[in-house]
Amino acid sequence: RKRINIAIDGPAAAGKSTVAKMIAKRLSYIYIDTGAMYRALTYRALQQGISLDDEQALISLLKDTYIELRPSHEGQLVLVNGEDVTNVIRSKEVTNAVSLVAKHPLVREEMVARQRALAKNGGVVMDGRDIGTHVLPNAEVKVFLKASVEERARRRHKENIARGFPSDLETLKKEIARRDQLDSEREVAPLKKAEDAIEIDTTSLSIEEVVERIMEIVNERI
Ligand code: C5P
Repeated sequence: RKRINIAIDGPAAAGKSTVAKMIAKRLSYIYIDTGAMYRALTYRALQQGISLDDEQALISLLKDTYIELRPSHEGQLVLVNGEDVTNVIRSKEVTNAVSLVAKHPLVREEMVARQRALAKNGGVVMDGRDIGTHVLPNAEVKVFLKASVEERARRRHKENIARGFPSDLETLKKEIARRDQLDSEREVAPLKKAEDAIEIDTTSLSIEEVVERIMEIVNERI
């Protein structure tokens, strides 16, 4: 069977990573969380007090930042220059700053180069915002996942509560809507459905249902 590339895009908290991980597991493919790469750089920039407007400083920081996505039992570990940042990159501080880092063209150029290198041999499930439109325009399967802001905030809220994190539903709604707006309105590779992507509205679907739908499409193409 052919080892294809699968692109999964969509707005914040639409369930991309959960679904992408499950598909990668079924196919024994590599899962690549491109959001984690932007988060890792944002984490380092905040830690070093670098201005998020300073593109030159961010790009030189990135050149000095080795980001590793390592499969593990619990899913995936994110390492930055050897430091395990898996959890800290999901913090509120990083989450609310990441779109400001990700809008810089030179930062994106370097991230995209790294992402394409990871996918060059196929067998990859990659999730993000611009995978189908820009990073892997030739991906054999492209999916665009969406869900209402209310539903996405509710899912994130439940997740936070389950993890024992403080969480406020109304705040989450605002933060998610703001991140979507920044990601959709930026000049370079904004969040957008690729013309040839299959759109799935997950608002009233279970995770299993979403995975099944995508697997049907995948099975036609491998
Ligand atoms: O997917 P996740 O929510 O972890 O992504 C975090 C942020 O990283 C997004 O809100 C977006 O600003 C940025 N991002 C991006 N392009 C990607 C993946 C993520 O700009 N391919």
